[in-house]
Amino acid sequence: MNKMLTLTNVSKTFPVRDTSLTVFKNLSLEMCEGEFLAVTGVSGIGKSTLLHLVGLLDTPSSGEIQLDNIVYSSLKPEEASRFRNQKVGFVFQFHHLLPEFTVLENVEMPFLIGGGEKNEARERAGEILDIMGLSNRLEHFPAMLSGGEQQRTAIARALINEPALLLMDEPTGNLDPRTGNAVMDHLDSLRKKRKYSCIVATHNMKIAARCDRIFPMSGNGENHAGEILR
Ligand SMILES: Nc1ncnc2c1ncn2[C@@H]1O[C@H](COP(=O)(O)OP(=O)(O)O)[C@@H](O)[C@H]1O
Ligand SMILES: [Mg+2]
Repeated sequence: MNKMLTLTNVSKTFPVRDTSLTVFKNLSLEMCEGEFLAVTGVSGIGKSTLLHLVGLLDTPSSGEIQLDNIVYSSLKPEEASRFRNQKVGFVFQFHHLLPEFTVLENVEMPFLIGGGEKNEARERAGEILDIMGLSNRLEHFPAMLSGGEQQRTAIARALINEPALLLMDEPTGNLDPRTGNAVMDHLDSLRKKRKYSCIVATHNMKIAARCDRIFPMSGNGENHAGEILR
């Protein structure tokens, strides 16, 4: 399988008043195309920080990140935001859907913002919402949906630009276990239809166990490639 993401000795230190906080040190990780990876560990261990670095929302203090053969540190700021929009989709614990727009409009938006055509936006959004089991909800507003439906809409929105990598930060953290599992079922069916890689940050081991591999973050500051569980 092709390598699509590589982190080499990545460290992140935040300045905190007159001192500093090292969240992780020399973290190395490789991911193959099409792989689903769970990043686990207790709250505050650095899961979100790691996702922000991989998603080009923040920069490492040292070390190198490479996605689809592009080395992040070689990108100028405007190139980095273009690369992020093309290559990475984000899903957060809270869906962040725009309340005054319908499900269809919310999902179409990133494609239209990227300069996509209206007809194609509609086609892409319709197709992906169908896979996510939401084809009867297209004209509904987010407030009319259940938590699981809102999160499935947020996933459809994150995937409309067909990113190589989907980053999900506690995507089921706000859902009951059954609804969380149903969201993961939809991701699995999507995976059978199109190729994308995914990192799920979660402290829920049942969700993590559904991924191909678990990368357990530990508090000793040093993390290396996770064990292969199945
Ligand atoms: N911008 C920041 N400035 C200072 N400390 C931060 C910042 N962002 C995160 N942290 C700290 O980094 C640690 C890891 O946080 P986070 O990545 O959110 O953990 P997790 O997602 O695993 O709960 C925490 O101690 C948090 O307080
Ligand atoms: Mg977090």
